[in-house]
Amino acid sequence: MPLKALMRLFILFQFTLIANCVESELVEALKILFNEINKPLQPVAITCWSVDASVRFVRSFSTSIQNYQINVFNDELFKFSNTDHCSDVFIVDIRCPNAQRIVNETNSLSPVNLRMVVVDSSMDVNDNMQEKMVDLFSNAAILPNSEIYLVTKVDNETFDFTQIYRTAINRPLIIEKFLPNSLRNEQDLTVISRRRLLNGIELRASMVVTNNDSLNHLDDYRDKHIDTITKVCYILTNHLISFLNASVRYSIVPSWGYMDADGEWSGMIGQLVKNEADLGATSLFFTADRVSVIQYIAMPSSTGSAFIFRAPKLSYTDNVFLLPFDDFVWLCLGCLVLVTAGCLLITVFVEWKTPLDGPCLDTDSGLLRPKLTDTFLLVFGATCQQGSSVTPRCHSARIITITAFVVLMFLYTSYAANIVALLQSPSTKIKSLKDLLDSRLKFGVDDTVFNHYYFSHATEPVRKKIYEQKVRNKDGSENFMNLETGIENVRKGLFAFHTESGVGYKIIGETFYEDEKCGLREIKYLDVIDPWYAIQKNSSYMELFKTGLMRINEHGLQERENSRLYTSKPKCSGGGGHFVTASLVDTFPAMLVLLYGYAIALILLISEILVKRFSSSYKSKNPLFIRRR
Ligand SMILES: *[C@@H]1O[C@H](CO)[C@@H](O)[C@H](O)[C@H]1NC(C)=O
Ligand SMILES: *[C@@H]1O[C@H](CO)[C@@H](O)[C@H](O)[C@H]1NC(C)=O
Ligand SMILES: *[C@@H]1O[C@H](CO)[C@@H](O)[C@H](O)[C@H]1NC(C)=O
Ligand SMILES: *[C@@H]1O[C@H](CO)[C@@H](O)[C@H](O)[C@H]1NC(C)=O
Ligand SMILES: *[C@@H]1O[C@H](CO)[C@@H](O)[C@H](O)[C@H]1NC(C)=O
Repeated sequence: MPLKALMRLFILFQFTLIANCVESELVEALKILFNEINKPLQPVAITCWSVDASVRFVRSFSTSIQNYQINVFNDELFKFSNTDHCSDVFIVDIRCPNAQRIVNETNSLSPVNLRMVVVDSSMDVNDNMQEKMVDLFSNAAILPNSEIYLVTKVDNETFDFTQIYRTAINRPLIIEKFLPNSLRNEQDLTVISRRRLLNGIELRASMVVTNNDSLNHLDDYRDKHIDTITKVCYILTNHLISFLNASVRYSIVPSWGYMDADGEWSGMIGQLVKNEADLGATSLFFTADRVSVIQYIAMPSSTGSAFIFRAPKLSYTDNVFLLPFDDFVWLCLGCLVLVTAGCLLITVFVEWKTPLDGPCLDTDSGLLRPKLTDTFLLVFGATCQQGSSVTPRCHSARIITITAFVVLMFLYTSYAANIVALLQSPSTKIKSLKDLLDSRLKFGVDDTVFNHYYFSHATEPVRKKIYEQKVRNKDGSENFMNLETGIENVRKGLFAFHTESGVGYKIIGETFYEDEKCGLREIKYLDVIDPWYAIQKNSSYMELFKTGLMRINEHGLQERENSRLYTSKPKCSGGGGHFVTASLVDTFPAMLVLLYGYAIALILLISEILVKRFSSSYKSKNPLFIRRR
């Protein structure tokens, strides 16, 4: 009997927990709050209310807050694992016995953006609910990315909204007003801008330094070409830290980190994965295998690596003697020579048919005779502006000759002028990695950690060939060299050097003569996105860091550091003022013509000798041969 009474009492208690008129007040408060949050969220109420009360609550909720569909769970059975805690907003009743357990359980969730609204279903004005609600979270890891709202009733008409969070796990709770009407100040509009001040918590940053001396010159802009990306990111990280009013402890690692055979990450990524660092303070390439272990948040520096080389002379890639005219002009020129020779032949032929006037003209060797080779030689001589030793006899043939001389002179002039320009111009043929691979250029690669890694791990066919044929030598050594040597080789020409372009251009600006800065080309080799700034996966501070870096970019600090530390491509200002000596390479096709000429002459000579030998021995063996003649 006492048990039954107790049961009834309990049921009564359950009913009174959410009294008839209270749920409308509750819904009224939630309505104000949800209007203010204004995000597509899924409200999940975790309550200990009776079925009846729950139904009344849901009905009231769906009539007055139409944008949201609410789900109601019993607090005893509720588990976070059954929900999608990224898009849910949990409504917890502090009067329920399981409220503390539910709050405790949020600690085991990975630090996602937890959203929770704590309400008081009794709506008792006289009780100091806010203090009790804050107590509820005394051990909770509610970092700046979580949104915890406390709803308390002030009097019959007004509610009080507050938010709580802490800057780091062992820091005191921070209570902020969340008054919808007072949210007019732009600065305070977002959670992030209100919570950006971490007030002195210490963040751990991992920094990649490949040369120990860089530690002495992190922010004095000296030795800008060594560990440039580290220096840019170091200064930007410091700006970020002061934006957050935090402090930072740097740890130095020698590499960005690559996965080894066991799936363990080394270097900076290793520190982020093992939770030894919050920030990766040196930006790193955005690659597919890294995306799953670290969180990329911003691109602080748009530096890229590329092969830098001086475009070789045109004669290295083309036959400059053919370039001045396009194919059609060459064709027409050939036709012109043939047609002129043909006309001349016909005219001379007709001319020699007519009786001669003078007695000795027939024997004059300066006269053009009606022979194909003679006329052809005359026109060819005209083409090459060499003149001719024979002249036609009559006027018509002479007119043809003069016309040919004049026309071909114009052609010759433009040809010669064009050749002069072409001999001085750089080649534009090398446009892709494939062209580079096929060219006669030698290769060198800047001796850095990531170049070693990416060159030896290249899988794409052209890149792999570049590594195997050009970077790795026959004896197994590799053409990795320091920056200065590489750039000096580029200056000497016919050498492509792979380095960070901003860094390479600094040395180029310092060591090249003005005219040598012309014709610099770059071709990208690394098949990766430019370096991005990365942090731990699922970091509670991600939004803060992201906003901070974006601010730094918007305020121009990023641009400033990049332009101070990276040199842009030097301008070509001395292009016309220098003198190119023609070398053997330029005259190579001409040499070839000469060689072919010699070869043909030699072959003819030999065959003539042979024919002569053969015919004389034939004659001596066969005396009939002479007799018959
Ligand atoms: C919640 O956690 C605190 C400290 O971790 C502990 O003292 C308390 O008993 C826990 N409460 C429940 C209901 O689990
Ligand atoms: C609040 O409401 C109760 C009951 O509805 C009423 O007795 C009380 O006077 C009201 N108080 C104020 C300040 O309006
Ligand atoms: C920054 O944090 C320090 C504590 O480390 C605090 O004294 C100072 O007031 C904070 N600055 C601002 C602007 O809040
Ligand atoms: C750089 O310093 C670290 C530790 O201070 C040391 O282990 C390493 O050998 C040094 N490297 C060079 C190249 O001096
Ligand atoms: C990050 O959060 C996602 C989603 O909650 C989870 O699947 C993943 O395991 C978490 N990663 C880490 C490293 O905590």
